[in-house]
Amino acid sequence: MKLTGNTILITGGTSSIGKGLAQHFLGLGNTVIICGRRNDRLEELKAQYPDLVTIQCDLTAAESRENLVRQAIHECPDLNILINNAGIQLTGDLTKPIDLSALEREIATNLIAPIHLSSLVVEQLRGRPEPGIVNISSMR
Ligand SMILES: NC(=O)c1ccc[n+]([C@@H]2O[C@H](COP(=O)([O-])OP(=O)(O)OC[C@H]3O[C@@H](n4cnc5c(N)ncnc54)[C@H](OP(=O)(O)O)[C@@H]3O)[C@@H](O)[C@H]2O)c1
Repeated sequence: MKLTGNTILITGGTSSIGKGLAQHFLGLGNTVIICGRRNDRLEELKAQYPDLVTIQCDLTAAESRENLVRQAIHECPDLNILINNAGIQLTGDLTKPIDLSALEREIATNLIAPIHLSSLVVEQLRGRPEPGIVNISSMR
């Protein structure tokens, strides 16, 4: 992957790994779009990095994912990279009855969202130079 001159949408760019990627890619001269559920975190980062594009989104909701991609492409028509970073780990001990709503939220965030988002951006990425989709996963 070329590390500069991209327009990159990073899901969950408000903390830890996603935030680090956003800061790093901004520093390398990329346009960076991040999303997250908490607006206060997005506003804080926007104040710190005025060039950062921030979009509030809940990746567990299909409509919110569709809106994220629509808004990202509208604001940044050169979008050529999607980094599926947002992920949660809620389900722990599988030897006891599990909290089904937590499991559904985890699967929606970690699996359905990356698949859906990827399908939503493919047409856009096909039209751009050096396109790519990066999936950040976990051992669990
Ligand atoms: N940290 C590790 O040691 C580690 C190890 C292996 C793999 N990973 C993987 O790396 C990725 C990032 O992990 P992390 O540790 O950086 O996680 P983190 O600090 O908990 O950050 C998660 C990010 O995703 C966002 N997010 C979570 N649920 C969301 C939702 N429904 N809609 C929109 N945004 C959502 C959070 O923002 P809001 O809360 O504001 O929505 C936050 O920006 C994950 O996929 C994780 O599985 C991490």
